Order: sequence, then structure tokens, then C-alpha cells
Amino acid sequence: MKNILITGGLGFIGSTLAKKLIEKKIAKKCILVDNFGGYINPSHSNFFDYRKKRIESLKKNKFIIERLDTNNFKALFNIVKKYKPSLIYHTAALPLAKLKNVNADEAKQGSVDSTINLIDAVRMQKNKKISLSRFVYISSSMVYGDFKKKTVNENDKKNPKEAYGIMKYSGEIITKGLCKLYDIPFTIIRPSAVYGPTDMNRRVSQIFIEAAINNKEIFVEGPNEKLDFTYIDDLVDGLILAGTKSKAKNETFNITFGKGRKLINFVNTLKKYYPKLKVKIKPKDSSKPSRGTLSINKAKNLIGYMPKVSIEIGIKKYLTFLRNQN
Ligand SMILES: NC(=O)c1ccc[n+]([C@@H]2O[C@H](COP(=O)([O-])OP(=O)(O)OC[C@H]3O[C@@H](n4cnc5c(N)ncnc54)[C@H](O)[C@@H]3O)[C@@H](O)[C@H]2O)c1
Repeated sequence: MKNILITGGLGFIGSTLAKKLIEKKIAKKCILVDNFGGYINPSHSNFFDYRKKRIESLKKNKFIIERLDTNNFKALFNIVKKYKPSLIYHTAALPLAKLKNVNADEAKQGSVDSTINLIDAVRMQKNKKISLSRFVYISSSMVYGDFKKKTVNENDKKNPKEAYGIMKYSGEIITKGLCKLYDIPFTIIRPSAVYGPTDMNRRVSQIFIEAAINNKEIFVEGPNEKLDFTYIDDLVDGLILAGTKSKAKNETFNITFGKGRKLINFVNTLKKYYPKLKVKIKPKDSSKPSRGTLSINKAKNLIGYMPKVSIEIGIKKYLTFLRNQN
């Protein structure tokens, strides 16, 4: 049982991870560092803020919310000094590749500047009662750019094609380089198309499901486009293994469901619940990389990662959650 610090702790991934770490008694306390930021226009009619809901079920004495920006080195240094975490998950970053008005600098702040700040904060307090067993950096499948093979593994070429992926990959290089230099154990995780309860960033799965519930037409960009849809609980299981297994030390893992599915497959699964669903296929957006399956063999073999939730099961779970929210 230990103090675990999660940057972006009020986010979709960070908060679900905190919940599981507390439930499984891996964390004595979770320190959720967050700047209370947002990426979707809050005046949008479809926008719903899930942040209260995310921490509602967490026991108050088991987590601490610290409002700060991870770009503020001094504030971050003091948090690391105060709580002496033995495990850090760095999820705080601009989480979407496709946003209006997004610039490279905004993407750089979370993935590059904050990563340097965190590692430096740990380094400067090393041997002063802080003993970090793992720094886990959350990267993305966008580091690969267009998938050139049917299944992409961790050693395949990294060729990001937009600012988000470029900064995510830069954060990987910084994590690997600085952690080795300062002898800090690290693990890098590449998730993809994560979906499930309380996501509020209007990614493709949330847009499809909410359109179905609200009887609106669904637009599928690209008849053959595939994504390795990953249910949030599977990702969180993988993150816990990555942060706790010794064999994950200084390694990089794809953590996904491990099977690319066409966007239209996702919609057709939804059609089982909403048979009258209207769907229009549009041309693929060429600025987005073409993705597909990520190999999860390394995570399976080294740390025993075993995803359980196919889109058929995940959609059912997610729909149940959304219907209960009215
Ligand atoms: N959700 C996915 O499909 C997916 C896929 C691949 C990678 N990722 C990565 O996972 C991470 C978390 O994504 P998410 O889906 O939970 O997004 P999210 O928007 O729900 O969570 C991100 C949280 O980080 C906070 N934050 C951002 N910048 C910050 C800063 N500088 N200081 C303090 N807090 C800050 C935000 O306020 C937010 O609460 C991101 O790094 C994202 O790039 C997500």
C-alpha cells in the first residue's frame, strides 16, 4: 500500500485508474493532480461534465485532489516532496488529436514540458525519502502514424503525422532518456481508442453511442477505417500491471484490446439495440492516420495482460451506464 500520484487525476483514464487502485488496495492514497481543464466547448448542447460523477464513488479519505498545472515546476516539486509517491502515472496532457484551434505548443505542454518537470521533481528529491518504484508515461497509438502493417508492434516505426502524436512520441523519448540518465524506473504505455463510462471528450465511440440514444444520424468517416477499441477497464488493468510488475520496468507496451474493428462494425453492434439507426458513410478524413490492430503479445507474455471486453460487451456496459444517467 502506497501513495500513488496521478497527473490528470480527474480525467477519464486517471479517475478510473484511481478508483481501481483504491478498490484493489494497491494505493493507500491517490493524489489526483489536475488543472481542472477542459477540451470541449461547455456551451455545446451535447456537453455533460462527468467530473463529479468520476470521484463520487471514491472514499474521501482515500484520495486527495490537488489543483495545479503540471507545467508549474515549483508547485509540482512541492507536491512530490509533500506526498513522496512511490508510483506516478502521468496522464495529464491534451488528450485529443483532432481539436479545433489546437496548436503544437498546447500539445507540448502536457507531453513534453510536464514530463520533464515530473522527472526532474523526482530526481531532485531522490535519496530524500522518496523512492519511486515506477514512473508510468501514458503515450498513444498515434506515435505510429499510418499503420503500415496489419498488426503494429512496439518496435515498428514511429512516424506520427500530427502535433498530438509528435508530442506524445517526444514525451516517450524524454521519459526513456531522462529516466535512464537519473536511474528512475519507467514504463511507457500506448493506448488506443479508449471508451466507456464518464468519457466527455466526444471521441468517436461517445459520439456514435450518444447519437444512437438520441435518435440522430451517425456519420462514419471511411468505410474501411479501423480502430483498436479498448474498454476503459481493460486499459486500467494494463496500467496497474505496468506500474506494479517488475518485468514492466524500463519497457514500452501497447495496451489495447488487441483487435482492430471497423468503425462500421461498432455502429452495426449499436444497431442491435437501435435497429432504426440511420448511418451515412463519408470519405475518410485524410489528416487522421489510418490505424488498426496493435499487437499486445509483449504485454501478454511479460506482464500477463489479458483484455476481457470486446466491443460487443463494452457497448452493452457503456449503454447501461448512459441509460442510467438519463
Ligand atoms: N482516451 C483515449 O482514447 C486515449 C488514447 C491514447 C492516449 N490517451 C492519453 O491518455 C491521457 C488521458 O486521457 P483521458 O482520455 O483521460 O483525457 P481527459 O481529458 O479525460 O483527462 C486529462 C486530464 O488531464 C488534466 N490536465 C491536462 N493538462 C494538464 C496540466 N498541464 N496540468 C494538470 N492537469 C492537466 C485535464 O484537466 C484532464 O482532467 C492523455 O495523455 C491522452 O493523450 C488517451
